Amino acid sequence: MEFLDVIKKRRSVRKFKDIEISEEIINNILNSAKLAPETDTCNYYFGVIKDENVKNEIAKATLWAEWVAKAPVIFACCCDISWDIGEQKEEDYGVIGNKLRYSDEIVNFLMKHENRKACKTLIQSTPVYIAAQHMILTAVSHDLRGCFVDFMDIQKINTILELPEHVTCQLLVPIGYAGEIPREKSNRSDKVVFYDKWQ
Ligand SMILES: Cc1cc2nc3c(=O)[nH]c(=O)nc-3n(C[C@H](O)[C@H](O)[C@H](O)COP(=O)(O)O)c2cc1C
Repeated sequence: MEFLDVIKKRRSVRKFKDIEISEEIINNILNSAKLAPETDTCNYYFGVIKDENVKNEIAKATLWAEWVAKAPVIFACCCDISWDIGEQKEEDYGVIGNKLRYSDEIVNFLMKHENRKACKTLIQSTPVYIAAQHMILTAVSHDLRGCFVDFMDIQKINTILELPEHVTCQLLVPIGYAGEIPREKSNRSDKVVFYDKWQ
């Protein structure tokens, strides 16, 4: 499939046929995810969830996304937050960068908060989402479909998956053969683009 066709065909799908995904395709999806960019302070991990019991437990920890249990595979996209939960010096590149981006006040609040894991989960999701998009597009290239699911109880999911303290799940990517056919997306109007400055 041409790359642009893959992008055009991608739509969120929440119903799946009861058909297994081959190991070869699963590995292609994982390999595409592993090629996604990472940052110095955030690396990713990917869980491949096929066990019915684990899928059901995960499904119950989502907000209105119990349908994920019906996907033949749920990829749990996780990240390593060791850097974030460690004690960082003021002059650390990551601290300076985060302060530039989020302000001193917010970074100081997050660094001193007693539930640092939850706080850091809040801001360390971008690389994982990029990897998840690689996964979805690779899935579409194999005529599979999926959806991002991130409205979920992250602490519960971390517990279900028995993740270590320095790893947190950021989102789920259920993938399977589509049991529904959404219309191809039309190109959004030029109103979403601006040149040089807003006005
Ligand atoms: C960052 C992100 C998080 C999302 N989280 C959820 C979710 O928790 N549950 C869900 O059903 N859909 C979720 N979606 C899917 C969106 O609802 C969907 O992308 C949107 O309706 C546009 O439809 P499309 O993907 O078919 O273009 C999420 C999408 C994005 C980009």
